[in-house]
Amino acid sequence: MAQHEQVEQSAAPGSEWWRTAVIYQIYPRSFADASGDGIGDLPGITSRLDDLRSLGVDAIWLSPFMTSPQKDAGYDVTDYRDVDPLFGTLADFDTMLNEAHTRGIRVIVDLVPNHSSDQHVWFQQALKAAPGSPERARYIFRDGRGENGELPPNNWESVFGGGQWERVTEADGTPGQWYLHIFDATQPDFDWTNEEVREEFRGILRFWLDRGVDGFRVDVAHGMIKADGLPDYTPAADADSMGGGEENVPYWGQDGVHDIYRDWHKVLAEYDGERALCGEAWLPTLEKTALWVRPGEMHQTFNFPYLMTPWDAAALRAVIHDSLDAFGSVGAPSTWVLSNHDVIRHASRLALTADSPQGDGIGPKSKGKPDQAIGLSRGRAATTLMLALPGSSYIYQGEELGLPEAMDIPDEFRQDPTWFRTEGERYGRDGCRVPLPWNADAPAFGFNDTGASWLPQPASWAEFARDAEEGDADSTLNLYKSLLAERRERALGSGTLVWEDAGSDAVAFHRGDLHVVANLGTEPIELGADVSFVIQSQPFPGTALPPNTAAWFTRP
Ligand code: NOJ
Repeated sequence: MAQHEQVEQSAAPGSEWWRTAVIYQIYPRSFADASGDGIGDLPGITSRLDDLRSLGVDAIWLSPFMTSPQKDAGYDVTDYRDVDPLFGTLADFDTMLNEAHTRGIRVIVDLVPNHSSDQHVWFQQALKAAPGSPERARYIFRDGRGENGELPPNNWESVFGGGQWERVTEADGTPGQWYLHIFDATQPDFDWTNEEVREEFRGILRFWLDRGVDGFRVDVAHGMIKADGLPDYTPAADADSMGGGEENVPYWGQDGVHDIYRDWHKVLAEYDGERALCGEAWLPTLEKTALWVRPGEMHQTFNFPYLMTPWDAAALRAVIHDSLDAFGSVGAPSTWVLSNHDVIRHASRLALTADSPQGDGIGPKSKGKPDQAIGLSRGRAATTLMLALPGSSYIYQGEELGLPEAMDIPDEFRQDPTWFRTEGERYGRDGCRVPLPWNADAPAFGFNDTGASWLPQPASWAEFARDAEEGDADSTLNLYKSLLAERRERALGSGTLVWEDAGSDAVAFHRGDLHVVANLGTEPIELGADVSFVIQSQPFPGTALPPNTAAWFTRP
């Protein structure tokens, strides 16, 4: 977009709930722990639903709680139709779902179809079966290269570090075939060209749809089909490991994935109540991302280009403009997201002073650590801007408290497979996964009542505890509540956005009579004596918008 082009943009029309919803991501192991074992659980979520209702979200998305050995925090499933005892039981799930629905909150669950756990019964059968057997055909087994098959079938690199292939020992004790795993070696990839795999997942979708879920967040939706022949591929040195930056990666964004989504779309359409699919797809461009949400495919897909945009006004204006264009061109709502369980929390990320590639995390020895006050100001301003945009927004648990990334987790507590597979070279994602603080003065800050916590909570988090923020009119929590209430009142999830010119350091637009300006520069921006503020991302006197601040206001 030209710097101050005056254009009007709309969210794609349609009344389905997912076009405009604010969806709150719950990372179950870190949300609320009713059992007191230090890992959050489903009864914990149920006990906190009133807090989410008072926050004002429309839906929750739960990261995986299915049966799993937890090698990748539940993204390694052994039984797709049951709840891991760590998190409770199916009955606990049903209770949580009903209680959420009673409060008008929809529920989306995570589906992990690209890979299973290596403890899944199918994979265990595959290990015992012979090369070429139907059991092996559910996964991607290949003979190795080299004289004795001692070299992996190709050179693909795992997202978590190391290679994508693991060699197995055959039933007779000899070194055997290799299997593919884009992620950890405990997460073997399914072969989605196999009809048996497709049929199994239709059944899994129905299992959760029958229980009443409102939709699925689809893990690694861009990785399920691999290029024919599994050709070698060497990523660029600065490539983002999830595939965000590069074209023609043989294991990301292959055209064959669209058949799967069209098939699933039909399954969901058999059910009442506007069930939705949201794809987790890290793709090189917005145009390509929009292909995931063409009519008859997914309903939504995460807008990772938006999440990855640095704190730069021109870049932010461009990505918002291009998102509305790209998604609008296929009749889909744009989504917006700033944080999740895989990236540095945005209240820290937006103030990093050195590049930190996605998934590397930030820890005691990292360079470019953010200034916490600047990060929080930018984080609050970024959210103030995001929640004024037409479309659907995702917020990640804890961002409503302004939580920073936990940057000082001692090595011995780290659990992300990235940390282990790179022998500590990349910290990984534990810093955004630390259990939430609920009460400033309670054990584990009220995460449970025993004080146990699977990752240590920084002592400084007392000030971010929900009860401390409830009583502070200027807290991040009360900012989020005001934003969500005004957004609902003004129906900002749908309708038109008109760009405005407030200078090169600003992102500015209006939605009806509501004006929105964010200042990404270093000098205040005078808004004019006649403004009447609706929301300020942080309190300021007068009418000059300070740096790292955003505001919603009207004019007479
Ligand atoms: C994306 C998930 O968000 C991430 O947490 C997980 O490690 C990978 N997919 C593998 O399932």
